[in-house]
Amino acid sequence: MTMNPVIDVHLFAEHAARALRADVRAGLGSPPKSLPPKWLYDARGSELFEEITALPEYYPTRAEREILRARVDSIAAITGARTLVELGSGSSEKTRLLLDALRRHGTLETFVPFDVSESALREAASALTGDYPDIAVHGVVGDFTEHLALLPAAPARMVVFLGGTIGNLYPDERAKFLRSVRETLRPGEWLLLGTDLVKDPGTLRRAYDDEQGVTAEFNRNVLRVLNRELGADFDVASFAHVARWNGADEWIEMRLRAGRASEVWIPAIDLRVELAEGEDILTEISAKFRRERVSAELADAGFDLLHWWTDEADRFALSVSRAAS
Ligand code: AVJ
Repeated sequence: MTMNPVIDVHLFAEHAARALRADVRAGLGSPPKSLPPKWLYDARGSELFEEITALPEYYPTRAEREILRARVDSIAAITGARTLVELGSGSSEKTRLLLDALRRHGTLETFVPFDVSESALREAASALTGDYPDIAVHGVVGDFTEHLALLPAAPARMVVFLGGTIGNLYPDERAKFLRSVRETLRPGEWLLLGTDLVKDPGTLRRAYDDEQGVTAEFNRNVLRVLNRELGADFDVASFAHVARWNGADEWIEMRLRAGRASEVWIPAIDLRVELAEGEDILTEISAKFRRERVSAELADAGFDLLHWWTDEADRFALSVSRAAS
């Protein structure tokens, strides 16, 4: 018997529209200009990101998949999870590796995909419901920086946060996020975390500034989102994509650099933005990690890091941590 997926919606279109306006006002209203990376992912942005994951220069997706393939059965045996909660239920391929392993292990009962995009979530949820008729699917639409407390209180949960997306948060936001995951869990429940690792700057820069220019398009797409959603008049093509390694903070900075001086009008928030020639808008940081930092930040949040696995080439790490009592 196939069960229908249950979907809880904690984020409404109206809330998202208000958040976008507030973020754009805060980010472009005063220097240094910035925009939060979450607005990169409209339908087109999500497609472009999928393309990025297949680029020769963008190693994180492949490296994480390599680790996951090698370790899924250990993960199932160690955690014995009955509930799989996936934050930013992105690539269904990695999800399926985990679902299959937990099912082989005989413990899986419920899958909880958690995503900001209701349409992406509904699609993923119904595809999985068809393929895993014995598993209950309980999707949650929400923002993982705000709505974690609303996750269903299912038994024996493992929260998975893959792809290195935690690197998009600043250190203070990361601490807050990890604490909120910990507060949501009971002692003994699990966190599976994917983190990209510090490596030579050339490899990092190339991963964020590919030969084919897909990442550049992905970056510029955020201005299209503002043009469409807020009626702004950015001349999208006049912005150059910049990826820079910040060695002091150990993160990649993705920026849009104005090719000429301009004045942009954003009617929905009644904001006039002046851009000087060569001025940057910071659109994303992607932090890279070392084991000591990951383990210290997890400990601060109330997790014990029990396993740390990397790919053959030591580019990426998956860690398994248990909520401490
Ligand atoms: C999806 C957030 C993990 O930071 O590597 C890819 C996004 N940005 N290329 C990352 C991204 C530019 C990606 N995450």
